[in-house]
Amino acid sequence: MTEQDEEYPELHGRILPMFPEQRPRRLRRSEALRALTAETRLHPQQFIYPLFVVPGSGLREPIASLPGQFHLSAESAVAEAQAAWKEGIRAVLLFGEPEEKDPLGRGAFDPAGAVQEAVGALKRALPDLIVITDVCLCAYTTHGHCGVVDEDGSIVNDATLELLAETARSHAEAGADMVAPSDMMDGRVGAIREALDAEGHQDVAIMAYSAKYASAFYGPFREAANCAPQFGDRRSYQMAYANRREALREARLDAEEGADIIMVKPALAYLDVIAAVREELDRPVAAYNVSGEYAMVKATAARGWAEERAVTLEILTSIARAGADLIITYHAREAARWLKE
Ligand code: PBG
Repeated sequence: MTEQDEEYPELHGRILPMFPEQRPRRLRRSEALRALTAETRLHPQQFIYPLFVVPGSGLREPIASLPGQFHLSAESAVAEAQAAWKEGIRAVLLFGEPEEKDPLGRGAFDPAGAVQEAVGALKRALPDLIVITDVCLCAYTTHGHCGVVDEDGSIVNDATLELLAETARSHAEAGADMVAPSDMMDGRVGAIREALDAEGHQDVAIMAYSAKYASAFYGPFREAANCAPQFGDRRSYQMAYANRREALREARLDAEEGADIIMVKPALAYLDVIAAVREELDRPVAAYNVSGEYAMVKATAARGWAEERAVTLEILTSIARAGADLIITYHAREAARWLKE
């Protein structure tokens, strides 16, 4: 006996023609119904907007590989953040560049460096803006690697930790609310936490690039940040894209070492990793919608092969649906505007 027979047994004693008893389309009938029943919602307050700050003044130079993004000196970064704030963006992530590179990347912890200057200027102009700094050495080293390099060209883990901790400390000193180590050295979250606490910066949070993959999607960024490795690649420290269990291990280690927020990067080709980390850990999960993902959308839209606004919101919603609480994205400002419309 079918369900239908059971439900309408008395109906003239005959079997009714089949019709769907389950009609999911009822909730898709109007824009208001679809919005009412949406399982995932994007909001500008979950976006983190990356800014590329450089030494100098009065600079606002377009970045060729990242259409719509700029190299900004401190006061231009303030103007950009103020405009973003008006659109609903509450957090920025700063990347810097030094006047001069050296093998140890000492420019990363120069108290008068571009990042340190911009942090100060941003917090003075917008005290409630959440200012997060990328902590890494690759934009500051002559060889372009994220850590100290020894004679045979390998990246030395433990000697790098001290330099990273020093960098994080200088960002905290400048007034950063949060530091985000992106180097992928083992033990750096613990080393940074210890260094911050020792200087009274116990309230400065750590957003760890926990599952950061060695990815070809960073191409446009490396041009923007001028941080491409001068020899070899980053596969001895960044993760292999074939691995998911390893991401959980990295995330757990970072959480144990004191990471307040766990990041997965890139985002779009790693939605399963975002979902797994969300499931397994009890920290907020951030996903980095990286430069190559952004550039693909821009390039496709420029050719008229996709509708820019639609694909962007679909991508960002998918990243949130996978489990990201926070999304770091170059689309932040335009997406915030589109969401308001
Ligand atoms: C530096 C760093 C990179 C990115 C963020 N921090 C590049 C890299 O690891 O080579 C990539 C960001 C992007 O592609 O948008 N360690």
